[in-house]
Amino acid sequence: MDDAAPNLDSLDAVAGDARILSKRVKDGVVTLVVDVTALDGARRAALESDLKTAAMAIAGVGDVRVAMTASQRARKLIAVASGKGGVGKSTLSANLAIALARAGRVVGLIDADVYGPSQTKLLGTDERPTANDKTLNPVAAHGIRFLSMGQLVSAGHALAWRGPMATGALAQLMEADWGDCDLLVVDLPPGTGDVQLSLVQKSRPDGAVVVSTPQAMSLIDATRAIDLFGKVSVPVLGLVENMAGYTCPHCGEQSDPFGCGGAEDAAAELGIPFLGRIPLDPAVREASDAGLPPAASDGAQSEAFARIAQKLLQALETAPA
Ligand SMILES: Nc1ncnc2c1ncn2[C@@H]1O[C@H](COP(=O)(O)OP(=O)(O)OP(=O)(O)O)[C@@H](O)[C@H]1O
Ligand SMILES: [Mg+2]
Repeated sequence: MDDAAPNLDSLDAVAGDARILSKRVKDGVVTLVVDVTALDGARRAALESDLKTAAMAIAGVGDVRVAMTASQRARKLIAVASGKGGVGKSTLSANLAIALARAGRVVGLIDADVYGPSQTKLLGTDERPTANDKTLNPVAAHGIRFLSMGQLVSAGHALAWRGPMATGALAQLMEADWGDCDLLVVDLPPGTGDVQLSLVQKSRPDGAVVVSTPQAMSLIDATRAIDLFGKVSVPVLGLVENMAGYTCPHCGEQSDPFGCGGAEDAAAELGIPFLGRIPLDPAVREASDAGLPPAASDGAQSEAFARIAQKLLQALETAPA
């Protein structure tokens, strides 16, 4: 009776977001191999200690060894966020993805905005993704591939989703057949609430880009977004100032309806890279509304996105792993 192997089933619940790949017991010594890809450093350490405590409490266990492994993702995941809505996250995500593709990268775009998915409109296609088994095949547009929460639900349905549903849907988009994509840009919903936090925690981006207008209010919100990434140890690759400076299409006069340069100063203060600015330009909105992203053609706006893409690639190279 004393020889009965200790029952380790209860440990799976302790593992939570991590996964126990194997459990072995020999002479009362338990060896666990745990996949901790979904966890950051602090949560890995906490999990190791929780597993040890839980295993030691099981009858017949004399010692516990925990081996942790994390699978290396072949592609880098870049989250685009803002504290405030309507500052141009989706516009930047689409055009940045296209600019990165024009710079020679193989790029995928995920529209994770459960409240107001907009990438099908920005990229000008209603094509629905096909699926093999349960794996989605992203839709091609303007030299990139993309998937949107909007493709998973019928148009016009407000998505009053709670965090777990949103993270479940995002996981489905992330686990799609992205093929040889080496960069995945994720357009996050606006704000810094629970939904955003759980999306970031679950997807563990390699870096984040924060968008702001030059206004002080928007910058305060951007700072909140930067704090959110700090909390989960995701490096902020930089700040982009959108809707900066306005050139009147009629008289050519330059004005600054939302101020100018505020984001660059804020980035310097916060010690994060400033990736560049996109001017407020009615042509950006018109092209976006028509499903023709400016970055896909040539011109001043396209160059602005290309410069931001270059700076982002540099920041990604030097970001801590
Ligand atoms: N630089 C710009 N010049 C002119 N219009 C712009 C610019 N950037 C974005 N817009 C317009 O502003 C509106 C909001 O942009 P967008 O949808 O990209 O913001 P968002 O931050 O994703 O919004 P939400 O928080 O609702 O997801 C759109 O109509 C877009 O075309
Ligand atoms: Mg958006």
